[in-house]
Amino acid sequence: MKPGDSTSVWLQRSTERLDQAILRYVDEQVSVASGLKSAIHYAATGGGKRVRPLLTYATASLAGKELDQVAGLDACAVALELFHTYSLVHDDLPCMDNDDLRRGRPTVHKAFDEASALLVGDALQTMAFQLIAQSALNDAQKVQVITSLSTAGGMAGMAGGQAIDLASVGKQLTQNELEQMHRLKTGALLRTAVQIGAIAIHLNDQEKKSLDVFASALGLAFQVVDDVLDASSDSQTLGKTAGKDAAANKPTFVSLMGLDGAREFARQLHQEALDSLSIWGDNADLLRAIASKVVNREN
Ligand code: IPE
Ligand code: IPE
Ligand code: MG
Ligand code: MG
Ligand code: MG
Repeated sequence: MKPGDSTSVWLQRSTERLDQAILRYVDEQVSVASGLKSAIHYAATGGGKRVRPLLTYATASLAGKELDQVAGLDACAVALELFHTYSLVHDDLPCMDNDDLRRGRPTVHKAFDEASALLVGDALQTMAFQLIAQSALNDAQKVQVITSLSTAGGMAGMAGGQAIDLASVGKQLTQNELEQMHRLKTGALLRTAVQIGAIAIHLNDQEKKSLDVFASALGLAFQVVDDVLDASSDSQTLGKTAGKDAAANKPTFVSLMGLDGAREFARQLHQEALDSLSIWGDNADLLRAIASKVVNREN
């Protein structure tokens, strides 16, 4: 895969590359409990837009090399997607959002059972760190990647944001509070996706900082669009149950500013993300393409 391929071809090939790497990795895992392996396989190979690993690949492509030549990159991309998948499996559990549909299929606890879904999440999360630890990154890079992912997934990131989400049922948050929740529960992992790509190609701190402005705006936009789609689309298009946020009385950008207001906010964040890429010129076209997909997506 060359950085010069047309953007849509690049996105398609990168998605295929990732899907194959996930399959390879999951298949080669040894499980003493074959039921758990089937449930992990079900969760990890059930589609999804693969936005986070695509961001990692697109960031790594700023080095101008073929992705094959970036040591440890596939392992990082797979680790991120497995980590994200774990967050979805747990998000859908009855004690969280209680969802029956994910990626157009029954959720893991529906297709298997709740205990399996819990364990799938546990295993996917640890598999992500195992993959990074055993990857071809050098030791300093491994520490940086593990620090980035564990921070983004923990109390000051995804898990913390999910806790705020659950504690906010029935409340109306201010815009600042809502932004904080969204930046933690969703934005943090998207920022890590870009950070990991930057670590893999040894960018300097200033370069990493400019990309972090991009990822931070895009990460927030991602969840604002998720709120908009929940309120405006249908379950078949989404592959998950539409209208869940209002039914569960969750505060969202739609409940705060209405559909048009939330769409306009996503548009502003998109622009902010694009503006931050100007120093990269055409080299950042893949990141621009992913940003546009995130904001204009239908599911
Ligand atoms: C859904 O993430 C959960 C959120 C963080 C909003 P995605 O919209 O990336 O879900 P998949 O991976 O494409 O299914
Ligand atoms: C979930 O947000 C964010 C995660 C950390 C998984 P949502 O609960 O809005 O995600 P969906 O709409 O179920 O995908
Ligand atoms: Mg949720
Ligand atoms: Mg949910
Ligand atoms: Mg949602």
